[in-house]
Amino acid sequence: MNLMITGGAGFIGANLVLHWLRNHPDDVVINFDALTYAGNLENLQEVKTHPNYRFVLGDLRNPLEISKTFSEHKIDAVIHLAAESHVDRSIHGPADFIETNITGTFNLLETARNYWSANLSVHRFLHVSTDEVYGSLGSEGKFLESTAYAPNSPYSASKAASDHLVRSWRHTYKMNVVTTNCSNNYGPFQFPEKLLPLLIHNCTQDIPIPVYGDGKNIRDWLFVEDHCEALDCVFHEGDPGEVFNIGGENEWENIDIIRFVCRKLDKELGKSGNESCGNLITFVKDRPGHDRRYAIDATKIKTALNWTPRHSFEEGLTKTIRWYLDHQEWVSNITSGTYQDYYVRQYG
Ligand code: NAD
Ligand code: DAU
Repeated sequence: MNLMITGGAGFIGANLVLHWLRNHPDDVVINFDALTYAGNLENLQEVKTHPNYRFVLGDLRNPLEISKTFSEHKIDAVIHLAAESHVDRSIHGPADFIETNITGTFNLLETARNYWSANLSVHRFLHVSTDEVYGSLGSEGKFLESTAYAPNSPYSASKAASDHLVRSWRHTYKMNVVTTNCSNNYGPFQFPEKLLPLLIHNCTQDIPIPVYGDGKNIRDWLFVEDHCEALDCVFHEGDPGEVFNIGGENEWENIDIIRFVCRKLDKELGKSGNESCGNLITFVKDRPGHDRRYAIDATKIKTALNWTPRHSFEEGLTKTIRWYLDHQEWVSNITSGTYQDYYVRQYG
């Protein structure tokens, strides 16, 4: 099978490319990525010369680049991850989110539909989405696949729109689509604009840790390798048209997870007393429209596809912290240059 993974140079995409090449030796993986600020080919150094790996520099906003890739690489299936993915950036500048997440998904669906027209119901199209499309929870309840969409940020609204496009391409054209909605991921290769890598990076550099609002917003954390295994399961076993929620059933208030990581970092970095990472915690102005709580009910994927996360939070977090401490050069390469401009604009 020639599998196109869009966004394969990003955080989850790179983990998925590595997972796929390790676990499916008969498949060829075509990584289609525009290499925005979030895309980084260093993530894929270890497979650069792998005989079953190809990289295509391509932009979903350009339909010709997509169709050329389908014909040149005889694409059999797609796992679509490429997106603008950071909520804070969507608040500063929503246009890119509309263009990539909505128009880009439309371009990809249309190219796939035309290219596979002789056998549309056979070729799988897995659309990777987020739990943020469901909006914000109160203190009770969890997101089910049947929860009504209520996106609150330009990011989540653009992802919700893309989910609706995918759904309608199934309903109208009978394309073989499946959609996943996952909770917050953490792990190697995550860009340090997102909470956990930003926190680890700031602690190593003695930079204040910005906590939005009262720090009591809740997220449900999942180790990225467990997400990749879930995507593999859904890709191979999910029925066409189905939606699967994926999550770690691992809810944390932001301030608690931050304190927990700080304590682990103190041990790793040999810090204590006045030097302790916890002293860097700084409450800052809240994110506009900040969703209060996300929590996934993962019963469907667990019972229908027999998936369950293999890593405990302790294991996943330990692996993640070690990875960042061992890859300081990776971090410093991406935190120089334009990252500094972003940081000043976001945090002052
Ligand atoms: P990321 O920002 O780390 O990576 C996105 C990748 O997409 C980058 O490599 C970037 O270069 C590429 N890209 C962006 N615009 C493109 C375009 N126009 N054409 C081609 N490539 C383009 O994102 P991530 O955190 O790895 O998320 C991947 C997917 O998973 C996204 O669709 C996101 O909505 C979804 N998701 C993420 C999380 C999470 O916690 N990170 C959770 C649930 C779902
Ligand atoms: O739920 C899945 C989503 O998780 C994905 O769809 C998104 O792509 C991904 O970015 C993530 O969105 P969040 O907004 O939840 O992640 P982020 O890491 O930006 O923030 C996590 C929480 O931490 C959130 O409540 C905001 C807070 N936060 C974040 C940053 C960057 C802070 O308090 N301070 C910060 O500096």
